[in-house]
Amino acid sequence: MDGNGRWARERGLPRIEGHRQGVENVRRIVEVARELNLPYLTLYAFSAENWRRPAEEVGALMGLLEIFLERYTRELEQNEVRLRVIGRPDKLPERPRACLDRAIARTAHFTERTIVLALNYGSRQETLEAVRAYTEAVRTGRENPAELDWPRFARYLYTDGLPDPDLIIRTSGENRLSNFLLLQAAYAEMYLSPVYWPDFSRAHLVEAIEAYKLRERRYGQTGEQVRPPTPEPVLHK
Ligand code: FPP
Repeated sequence: MDGNGRWARERGLPRIEGHRQGVENVRRIVEVARELNLPYLTLYAFSAENWRRPAEEVGALMGLLEIFLERYTRELEQNEVRLRVIGRPDKLPERPRACLDRAIARTAHFTERTIVLALNYGSRQETLEAVRAYTEAVRTGRENPAELDWPRFARYLYTDGLPDPDLIIRTSGENRLSNFLLLQAAYAEMYLSPVYWPDFSRAHLVEAIEAYKLRERRYGQTGEQVRPPTPEPVLHK
């Protein structure tokens, strides 16, 4: 969800106003995702590196997260949307953390739709924690390295139980992954939109999904292997 700051600056507004509009757009896009029946939507809301921003901006983002969760948890419940978090939410300030715990607990039983918030998330940090937990499991005899394969290792990632992303959209014209789901994105399709996040609308999301539908996902195979064979023409004699 990139471009909040530039959206604000171009309007002569403080950066935080861009984030405020960004949060409004989160609500709109979550609603669109529901209409479009997307089973999973992950939003990169706060990276492990975002703590380096000015304290005032970090504080404002935490405040916005808290307000968002306070106002929005009921809507998630009514729409039967489960909320999950990836990252280290335990390091967030107490108030947004409490709102988060409450929203997660209240929506944990929904199964059809999931919104995942990446909060204090960093892919390298996630990988290191997974390696640490895995090696501890080896040390205590719960894992055998000879049996290690990807699905087994993936259980140690924050995303345990979530499918890999099919489509990753980055807004605001940047062409980077910025430490986002580096391992899970192995075969994700990328869609880079020039639009700043506060302006990223329903039409933009639909356009991204339409573009995704035209992609051929080969997972290392050839096009001929993954394309369904064209049916033999039926000859009418
Ligand atoms: C990137 O824009 C955006 C962020 C670092 C924060 C995204 C957060 C929100 C939309 C609000 C919090 C989320 C929820 C779910 C309540 P930027 O500030 O890097 O923009 P710039 O690159 O134009 O400066």
